[in-house]
Amino acid sequence: MSAADRTGPAELSFYEVIGGHDTIAGIVRRFYEGVRTDEVLAPMYDGDFDGAEDRLRMFLEQYWGGPTTYSEQRGHPRLRMRHAPFHVNPDARDRWMLHMTAALKGAHLPPLHEATFMDYLQRAAHSMINTFEPTPGTSTGEQA
Ligand code: HEM
Repeated sequence: MSAADRTGPAELSFYEVIGGHDTIAGIVRRFYEGVRTDEVLAPMYDGDFDGAEDRLRMFLEQYWGGPTTYSEQRGHPRLRMRHAPFHVNPDARDRWMLHMTAALKGAHLPPLHEATFMDYLQRAAHSMINTFEPTPGTSTGEQA
């Protein structure tokens, strides 16, 4: 196969297929609008929602085959390690997924693309759980 044969749509990254920067920036912006209102998640960000929004956007762009700015600025993602300082119990994961699901639906992607994006986020969010202790000061996160 010549190089020219490899320039068709099959070469597009998932990042490009779903609309590139604008789509991912929109998802992450809507996500943080939800997180800002969440009594369990919001305090974790110590007021730096704009910085957090940039980091998550750059990470997702890179993950789906877009620009590699995240790693140029932050190095290897090591996401579990970077989440170790935070109390990520099942309740925190569910809240994170609730806001992300709403944000993703707002992008109005074709169902198969939405499912692909969602499937990754679900697995990633589950893998970020680092405690089964209830959220300090509440009864949330307790196991039934
Ligand atoms: C499961 C629930 C989760 C909680 C409660 C949570 C919470 C947080 C918090 C509090 C931060 C620090 C904000 C900052 O300064 O950047 C953070 C950073 C970050 N999170 Fe999460 N997160 C969760 C899941 C995820 C998932 C599923 C992903 C990826 C798909 C992710 C990707 C990131 C990234 C890329 C950063 C910035 C890391 C860095 O470069 O410092 N998080 N998260």
